[in-house]
Amino acid sequence: MTIAQTETTHSGRTGTARHFLMCRPEFFTVSYSINPWMDPAKGADNATALLQWESLREAYESLGHTVSLIDPIEGLPDMVFAANGALVVDGRVYGARFAHQERAAEGPAYLEWFAGRGYETLEASFTNEGEGDYLTLDDMILAGTGFRTDVAAHMEAQEFLGRPVVTLRLVDPRFYHLDTALFPLDGGNVAYYPEAFSAGSRRVLARLFPDAVIASAQDAEVLGLNAVSDGRNVVLNGEATGLALELERRGFTVVRVDLSELRKAGGGPKCCTLEIR
Ligand code: ARG
Repeated sequence: MTIAQTETTHSGRTGTARHFLMCRPEFFTVSYSINPWMDPAKGADNATALLQWESLREAYESLGHTVSLIDPIEGLPDMVFAANGALVVDGRVYGARFAHQERAAEGPAYLEWFAGRGYETLEASFTNEGEGDYLTLDDMILAGTGFRTDVAAHMEAQEFLGRPVVTLRLVDPRFYHLDTALFPLDGGNVAYYPEAFSAGSRRVLARLFPDAVIASAQDAEVLGLNAVSDGRNVVLNGEATGLALELERRGFTVVRVDLSELRKAGGGPKCCTLEIR
C-alpha cells in the first residue's frame, strides 16, 4: 500500500487541488456600513488585515492550491472579498452586480479580469453577489436570497451555467450572504447554521443533506461557516472550536486561520476566496 492510499484510508477523505482568485487588502478599511458587522467609528487596522490575509494565502499554497491575484483598487475597501466578484463554473463566468452602490465598481473589475484571460463571461441583469450567495456542489448550486442576491438572478445563473440552482432564504441580517451560514464540505454534503434560514429552506436543507454538519450559534457568530474545504482540508476561522472538533471527528483535517480583522467588515476565509472552476 502506498502512503497516499494509507492516508486516504485513515481519513476517509480525498482533497482536490483548487484554483483560487484573491485580492490583497491594500485598501481595506471599514469606512461605511452595509452589514451589522461593520462599524465605521471603530474602523479596522489595515496592517493587521494584510498579515492575516497573507497567512490565508500561504495556507492555500501549502495545501497545494493555486492562488491568482487581482489588483486591488483604491476606494474599494471591500474588494478583498473576492468571493463576491463572480461565480465561475466549468470555465463560465457569471458576473456580480452588487446590491450596494459602495461596491458597484467591483463587478466590472472582476469581470474584466476574467474577460482579459479568455473566459466566457456574462454581465448579469439581476443583483447578485457572486460566490457570496452561490455555492457549487457536484449536482447543484445552492443560492441565497433575502439580503443581497435577487431571486431572479438564481434563474439567470441556472440558464447560463446549466446546473440546477436551489434557492435558500436567509433571515438573519448577521448572515447576509449564503457563505456566512453554509459551506460545502465536498461535492455532495454541507455544513450549515439552521437558524440563519427560513423554516421552508431549513426543510429543504434537511431533505437534501440528511448527513450535514450542523453548526452552533457560537460557531456561526465567529463566521465559522465562512470556510473553504477541498474535500479533505477545511480552512476555518480558529475561533469556531465546536465546528472544528466535529469536522475532525468526521475525518477532515482542519487548518485554522485568524481573520479577525477582516471580520470587522463581516468577512472570513471564504469571503476572501473566489474559486475558479
Ligand atoms: N463588507 C462586505 C459586504 O458587506 C463583506 C463581504 C463578505 N463577503 C462574503 N462573501 N460574505 O458586502
